[in-house]
Amino acid sequence: MNTIFPVIAVDGGAASGKSSTSRALAARFNLMHVDTGSHYRAVTFALVQAGVSPEDTAAIETQLAKLQLGEEIDGQSARISIGGKVPREEDIRSDAVNASVSPFAAVPDVRKFLFEYQRSQATVAERSGFNGLIMEGRDIGSVIFPDAVLRFFLEADEATRAARRAKEGQTDSIAERDRIDSSRKTAPLLCPVGAERIDTSHLTLEQVVDLLAGHIEDATGLAPVQA
Ligand code: C5P
Repeated sequence: MNTIFPVIAVDGGAASGKSSTSRALAARFNLMHVDTGSHYRAVTFALVQAGVSPEDTAAIETQLAKLQLGEEIDGQSARISIGGKVPREEDIRSDAVNASVSPFAAVPDVRKFLFEYQRSQATVAERSGFNGLIMEGRDIGSVIFPDAVLRFFLEADEATRAARRAKEGQTDSIAERDRIDSSRKTAPLLCPVGAERIDTSHLTLEQVVDLLAGHIEDATGLAPVQA
């Protein structure tokens, strides 16, 4: 029996299947789901609205100091709020944010700003009565929760990822974002040593979810609350 509050890290590139998989696992085991990509998107939206560019580190620091972060629990998910408001999905997933989120996410001050907030989500999950936390992103298993009980790294070939985004009706510069995310100095996108690396290209969502669910049951002793 695991007495430590379980944290599960799910990392991977754009459209690797992280979100759908994490949401399904959250429902299956009553975990709180946190999408850290939406944190970077929300902060990017706020900075873009303030007229700041990713190169202007002094202005970024000034603007970040004005942002009050919180969260709202919406079903299984905790959504970031800024100044008491949850940003709208259409704003944080706009073409403008798709194009500028990776340059902002490469700025060390932006990452530092989100670090404690993201770590604090384990306490939020526990306090809110969930069985654990499942957090998805690019550096969860390497930087935010290197101590997570399970760390997954999802991959898919580029054609599969482009097809997934097209199906969602989104124009997204997947390859360009992955290039910036993998090559940045601070917390680059990588498969952490010891993480479970899973190629989802030729698997259905259900197969991926079942595969990860097996690992979760073995590592945490949690039982599904829903098939
Ligand atoms: O997950 P999503 O594709 O929405 O993430 C948007 C962007 O946020 C990524 O391309 C990356 O630049 C940044 N990100 C990050 N670290 C995370 C999550 C997202 O740098 N943990």
